[in-house]
Amino acid sequence: MFIDKVAWITGASSGIGESLVHEFVRRGATVVASSNDLPGLERVKAACADKSSMVHCVPFDLADTSGIDKIVEQQINTIGRIDFLLNIGGISQRARIDETPLWLDRKIFEINYFGTIALTKAVLPYMIRQQSGHILATSSISGRFGFPLRSAYSASKQALHGFFETLFLENKRFNIRSSVIIPGRVRTSISFHALTGEGIEHGKLDEGLANGISTEKAAEIIIKGIMRNKREILVGRGEMLLLHIRRYFPWLFFRIADKIKST
Ligand SMILES: NC(=O)c1ccc[n+]([C@@H]2O[C@H](COP(=O)([O-])OP(=O)(O)OC[C@H]3O[C@@H](n4cnc5c(N)ncnc54)[C@H](OP(=O)(O)O)[C@@H]3O)[C@@H](O)[C@H]2O)c1
Repeated sequence: MFIDKVAWITGASSGIGESLVHEFVRRGATVVASSNDLPGLERVKAACADKSSMVHCVPFDLADTSGIDKIVEQQINTIGRIDFLLNIGGISQRARIDETPLWLDRKIFEINYFGTIALTKAVLPYMIRQQSGHILATSSISGRFGFPLRSAYSASKQALHGFFETLFLENKRFNIRSSVIIPGRVRTSISFHALTGEGIEHGKLDEGLANGISTEKAAEIIIKGIMRNKREILVGRGEMLLLHIRRYFPWLFFRIADKIKST
């Protein structure tokens, strides 16, 4: 399913995206690896050892996608096609609503929502022409409910569900698949880079994340979800139960969420 295919992965310089690069390359795909960190991307490429020539590093800032159409056109001219687009890159937040200035809400939306949809919109016409492709976005369990200290993060991830459900409905007829990845707790540096109310990095590995699943396990679950063409790919352990509790027993969810240590 992945041999000789091309997968574009954002957030490829660390965490879940990095493990996905390895998983796709191992399965015979060529990878376009993106993030805003070229040395980080080159480190991931070098770690692919004898398969490193299958990785093309294409850095860009998800917060500024003004040149994205050109970047995608260049990749199409070089590689010829894009079979999978995995929008993994994103940033979290650790600040109460009253501590979060509006510019910071906008910054988190620029990266998590507008950056993701800008790349998706640039790639979509090529997939329509090919009459095939699979586009994935990365939400979060807090993209299914509100959560303390994550107002803009939760809202930006919830917005992705609306966009990607529409993408699926509109483009099924072109044989284009679409999925939303919903991670719970995965052991990455996401909390480290999460933005505080001053717009600086939180700089800590949260306790919950430290006990999360590995990025390798997360990548394996995502690959299985792609192979089964799942609309929603749940990535986590016991914490995923919260999704069902929120849906079927909202009163219980609010009691639990009130008690969860949120930093
Ligand atoms: N880990 C979890 O438990 C968890 C839970 C729910 C959802 N998620 C979601 O999973 C996705 C991957 O996160 P992760 O856990 O793997 O965290 P991570 O290790 O911090 O990786 C985040 C990736 O996003 C990239 N990124 C951030 N800001 C960017 C920007 N402005 N422009 C370009 N790239 C940017 C980073 O690259 P740079 O080095 O260039 O910044 C990095 O490659 C995110 O969308 C996150 O919201 C994770």
